[in-house]
Amino acid sequence: MARYASTMLSALIFLTAASAAPTINFGSLAARPTLPSSTLPPPDPSTSLKYIALGVGTQNYTCATSDGTSVPASGGAMANLYDATPLMSVPILGNYEINTQTCKADQTNSGLAQRQIGVHYFDAALVPSFDLSLGTQSLQYPQGLYLSAKKSSSVAAPSNSCTGRNGAAAVAWVMLDDRGDGLTRGLSRAYRVHTTGGSAPATCAGMPPTFTVDYAAEYWFYG
Ligand SMILES: *[C@@H]1O[C@H](CO)[C@@H](O)[C@H](O)[C@H]1NC(C)=O
Repeated sequence: MARYASTMLSALIFLTAASAAPTINFGSLAARPTLPSSTLPPPDPSTSLKYIALGVGTQNYTCATSDGTSVPASGGAMANLYDATPLMSVPILGNYEINTQTCKADQTNSGLAQRQIGVHYFDAALVPSFDLSLGTQSLQYPQGLYLSAKKSSSVAAPSNSCTGRNGAAAVAWVMLDDRGDGLTRGLSRAYRVHTTGGSAPATCAGMPPTFTVDYAAEYWFYG
């Protein structure tokens, strides 16, 4: 408990200090943060880490019936994406700090609100899409980065993952690749890791035809 409290305190101090800082360009860093380890395939060595975002939003579900005879089906998701890259650039704080923020993120906006870089949404055809046009513009990509994705790998979240509101279990860690429809700009892959909440109940008993479950996650973008 004491350890948790002091870690939170250092996270808060760090966030306060970091909130006025510009987005850090990884090019100036000696060592880039490494993706949290899992059985997901590793990043393609020919690509590099572009951004780490904290996603805060909802996983959407549909239910065919409201009795216990059906199970919720995925109906997409919607999340705001906040630039968490600077949080990952400080040695030692690294993964632990952002994960601590993720744990809190479905109850507060965790102080990152001024750094929104985009949104994650599912389009009408339920294609998972990441629009980073709010804060990733460059000469090469004046409209910012964009990933039109398909899920290519998935693994259950670790058993010690943070639960969300009402005890919802953490959604799976996933790897999403460019689906090659020509919409993607400057990215080839995203990993959803350090997930918090977002899982549907086991059955549709008592559930409406559509509903949402709050979640938060880190998204690591490579290109
Ligand atoms: C998911 O739910 C959110 C509300 O949290 C909504 O804005 C969004 O349009 C929904 N997405 C889909 C694909 O239904």
